Amino acid sequence: MVGADYNDKNYDYTKYWEGRDYENASEVIALKKLLPKNFNKDRSIIDVGGGFGRLLSVFKDSFGDISIFDYSVKLLEAATKNAKNLGLSINTINGDIYNISNLVDKKYDYVSMIRVSHHLEDLNKAFEEINKILKEDGIFILEVANKVHFKSIVVNLLKFNFKYLKKDSISVTSKDVAFLNHHPKYVEDILKDSGFVVEDKLSVSNFRLAVFKKLIPFNLLLRLEDSLQKMLSFIYFGPSIFYRIKKVNEVE
Ligand SMILES: C[S@@+](CC[C@H](N)C(=O)[O-])C[C@H]1O[C@@H](n2cnc3c(N)ncnc32)[C@H](O)[C@@H]1O
Repeated sequence: MVGADYNDKNYDYTKYWEGRDYENASEVIALKKLLPKNFNKDRSIIDVGGGFGRLLSVFKDSFGDISIFDYSVKLLEAATKNAKNLGLSINTINGDIYNISNLVDKKYDYVSMIRVSHHLEDLNKAFEEINKILKEDGIFILEVANKVHFKSIVVNLLKFNFKYLKKDSISVTSKDVAFLNHHPKYVEDILKDSGFVVEDKLSVSNFRLAVFKKLIPFNLLLRLEDSLQKMLSFIYFGPSIFYRIKKVNEVE
């Protein structure tokens, strides 16, 4: 595993979201497009690496049966509290995604995994585990930190770093977190090998640059984001790619 220790008492992941209202709202907009529009009390979802339950307020509109899986006990406790504040009762399950099929006792209609793949070096293994916990025709909602987003391409081409366009993952380290940006085509190849087919994809947080946030009023920025997420996905423009993926084959 690579990344921050979300269990560390000195690392508060909730603080990461301070000042990131635009990114949070952009993800909510994308998720609403990818999730079922109606509520069904029997429909189930497990949010893998769901952390403190940031996206529970979106899931509650579509699912009557919500679980959060995470290796951080500290964040699972926060998720239970957040759920309570929303009037929800959720299941929390503690463990490592690479072993998830041995830790859950049923199959789900939906699995989501948002902002987690950048911590995973072995996407093959992770996707196979997710395949095993999905029902037949189940849906996997995946977010990937996009290696080839527009700004990174421009920066690297200006440095004549043509190797950057290769279909592999790269390690990026920020102030307190080390993580991997994946090439979306590489991710799509692994999904195919793991029994999945991509049904839809969206480019998300397309205007996260400080200059856009400063110059464009928040509501207008979100309207632009909303209207361009689909179109910009064809060129993998944004820093995050959201996928709606269907399970078509069972993996061994
Ligand atoms: C950046 S946070 C994202 C949390 C949440 N999905 C969100 O978008 O707010 C990454 C989460 O993945 C969890 N995580 C990372 N690697 C994991 C693993 N191998 N197994 C289970 N959870 C993991 C961390 O504990 C953390 O809660």
